[in-house]
Amino acid sequence: MKFVETAEKAAREAGKVILAGIGKVKDVSFKTLPSNLVTEVDKKSEEIIIDILLKDFPDFDVLAEESGSSSTKNSEFMWVIDPLDGTTNFTHSLPIFSVSIGLVKGNDVIAGVVYDPTRDHLFHAELGKGAYLNNKKLHVSKVKDIKKALLVTGFPYNVEQNPDHCFERFIKMTSESRAVRRLGSAAIDFAYVAAGIFDGFWEVKLNPWDIAAGYLLVKEAGGKITNFAGEESDIYNKQVLASNGFIHNKMVELLAEAEHIKITL
Ligand code: IPD
Ligand code: CA
Ligand code: CA
Repeated sequence: MKFVETAEKAAREAGKVILAGIGKVKDVSFKTLPSNLVTEVDKKSEEIIIDILLKDFPDFDVLAEESGSSSTKNSEFMWVIDPLDGTTNFTHSLPIFSVSIGLVKGNDVIAGVVYDPTRDHLFHAELGKGAYLNNKKLHVSKVKDIKKALLVTGFPYNVEQNPDHCFERFIKMTSESRAVRRLGSAAIDFAYVAAGIFDGFWEVKLNPWDIAAGYLLVKEAGGKITNFAGEESDIYNKQVLASNGFIHNKMVELLAEAEHIKITL
């Protein structure tokens, strides 16, 4: 479909600029906090993506991390863009980052692309047509026992000021599952749930650009996404729990139990 084709093209072009920028970052600045970085590569990547998307779809609205919202066209379509998901990793030359482009129509994400330029992994999904990695169909894992599950999470940039049980949840999940990872690119976390690599992923305070494409990947690969209470959630929700479906209720239970843990430092 043309939407995915154009999003793929944009993601690949942005990926070239990101790869070329590894180890050469000149200008790192902070957003709200010293832990929340932005580089000239985030901005360049976003420019390239928006240019390519709007060339093919000039009437669509755009919500992009670095330039914000241009929802001025009143279109029923909106591109939701994270031009570099994993900026901290990128800044430190840790090769775990991605480009994430989702297309929203009304309340639905109808297309999504997550591109990992280091591995040349192109994940794409279209509503009702499945999720794919380099054109190979994806399915979530079949793991049913949390003790055999490999999970992933992330921490918000303001975790120090507002921990919001993040550490308690990490402890709980680590002690109940096979292991918990923390990769630093939410879009890749979602994509790996879709690919059956991770069995579950949870995080708080993500933004729509972190979620949109990955949300569709997980759903189209047969997975489940809710808030921490197990209720239906969308890309604007501040709690995300994505899983293979089988371990979902157990994860909901553990996330709730974690709130009663007392950490003494
Ligand atoms: C971040 C990554 C990270 C997640 C943070 C995000 P950015 O995005 O997705 O995995 O833990 O909450 O903000 O800032 O690198 O685009
Ligand atoms: Ca992000
Ligand atoms: Ca980003």
